[in-house]
Amino acid sequence: MSYKKFFPYFQNSTMTYLDNGATTQKPQSVIDSEIEYYTHYCANTHRSNFGDANKATIEFENTRKHLQQFINAKDSSEIIFTKGVTESINFIANSFAKDFKTVIISSLEHHANIVPWHMQNRTLGEGLEVVGYKENFAFDFEEFESLLQKNPNSFVSVTHISNVFGTINDIKKICTLAHKYDSYVMIDGAQSLAHTKIDVQDIDCDFFTVSGHKTFAPTGVGAIYIKQELQDKIAPYQTGGATIKSVTYEKSELLPSPYRYEAGTQNIAGVIGFAKALQLIDTIGYETIEKQEHTLYEYLHNELEKIEEVVLYNTTKDSVGSKSFNIKGLLHDDVGILLDKQKIAIRVGHHCAMPIMEKLHLKGTIRASLAFYNEIEDIDKFITALKKAISMLKD
Ligand code: ALA
Repeated sequence: MSYKKFFPYFQNSTMTYLDNGATTQKPQSVIDSEIEYYTHYCANTHRSNFGDANKATIEFENTRKHLQQFINAKDSSEIIFTKGVTESINFIANSFAKDFKTVIISSLEHHANIVPWHMQNRTLGEGLEVVGYKENFAFDFEEFESLLQKNPNSFVSVTHISNVFGTINDIKKICTLAHKYDSYVMIDGAQSLAHTKIDVQDIDCDFFTVSGHKTFAPTGVGAIYIKQELQDKIAPYQTGGATIKSVTYEKSELLPSPYRYEAGTQNIAGVIGFAKALQLIDTIGYETIEKQEHTLYEYLHNELEKIEEVVLYNTTKDSVGSKSFNIKGLLHDDVGILLDKQKIAIRVGHHCAMPIMEKLHLKGTIRASLAFYNEIEDIDKFITALKKAISMLKD
């Protein structure tokens, strides 16, 4: 079955789209729901009390409930809408996590989970520790435990799935170990929800960040899961309208979670659209998505391996979404330009992960990143175009 039929982009574009790590395409249902909001009941939420405003509030809150069930959060107060993973991480970095003596991250973090810590004047060895990796970028649990032993009561902030290499971190194990040393864990789930089922209670993380636009929903919307037991300890990092119970010239009294954390008018259409994206995943089912993606990823890996000039960095097929590589003797930028000319959409460069590039002595890589709607034919087109680019650049 072709899932592309749900996504109008594929009827309107001749590109072979393999840049899903950057953003995914949007199904018609998501686009329709945004248009419906703006053309039929455009009104603010949680404020006015007329028909359209009430409908907007109901739809907005339905997404919250949907996302709560979707990631198996215990309570809808645990779901806070944000602009995306970057805002979610900045929120916690600038509130709950800022007073921790040590923050521990992994080697595979996106800049969104590195720069906020540097902005707090943390640097390697002084308030910031980085867990190394083993073969194929596997998270080094021994080093992690030794860091935790030396720095109990730390704040751990790690990615679930690498946006560069598709490496999957065992986040449940990371949480268990961190909790043993009285530490808290935030997971960067930017690359997770489009590919795999998330159960926050089973993972037992304290915070889990999700991206809407990387999960078939509109841009500018995401969320953070905050474990209920922690909510009293977390100050909002911005306040304003819609967060308060009462305000006098003397003081402000905030509402409970989630509203105390959602200051100002939200991306209402985006949030409503997010539910439609989740609905599509519900309809197709993660089992089907995971199976399809596994087949595609394995095929991509095998086809790349057959090309003599290809240098692969993560050689396990048991990864998700992103596959990074280089071509011996060629610049990734040049390959990217020739792929674009052949209507292949991929990303080249450092992928907002400069520290890992530096560690590997690379300026960047060529990255193809998959979603469940991709097909074997897309990979065949990509491989044919790649071979052509190699032969043109080598001549
Ligand atoms: N974080 C996104 C990527 O990896 C933008 O491409």
